[in-house]
Amino acid sequence: MSLDWLGPGRVPVTLNVNGREVEVTIEPRRTLLSVLREELGLTGTKEGCDEGNCGACTVLVDGRTVYACLVLAVDCSGRCVRTVEGLRRAENLHPVQEAFVDQDAFQCGFCTSGQIVSAVSLLEQNPKPHRGDIERAMAGNLCRCGAYPNIVAAVLEAARLEEAPDAKD
Ligand code: FES
Ligand code: FES
Repeated sequence: MSLDWLGPGRVPVTLNVNGREVEVTIEPRRTLLSVLREELGLTGTKEGCDEGNCGACTVLVDGRTVYACLVLAVDCSGRCVRTVEGLRRAENLHPVQEAFVDQDAFQCGFCTSGQIVSAVSLLEQNPKPHRGDIERAMAGNLCRCGAYPNIVAAVLEAARLEEAPDAKD
């Protein structure tokens, strides 16, 4: 079948993003990061280095953390993508988001959505992490502001909130 009607070199790609099926028509060279931000308006996922060094673009693909700047969108066809915008639970923030606010776990906030996505992934795999587990799991998320102590405190608090949702305060 000819795809000329899509425009030169463009292909249709269907993604499931935050529980919603979306179809985009893109050049195959486009990264997942650029499609999320520029085609779908999901700008919570940040572009830092754009070359796999900083973790600002971290999202979940089929439940695993990936750097969205290193993944082609076409390779995510038919797969489930979760971004920071998809973490809310009904009207409430995700416990990790709440804990980041409570613990002042950010300064400029540029790294924060990537940090939160990595923390959510960690807690889904290991609901009771120790400090060392958190430091290891989040080593790929850099924070130029040096908010690391507060970030670790936030992840520990989120684990407590997940274990006992009424334990806050
Ligand atoms: S923007 Fe993807 S790792 Fe830095
Ligand atoms: S809060 Fe500024 S880079 Fe992390």
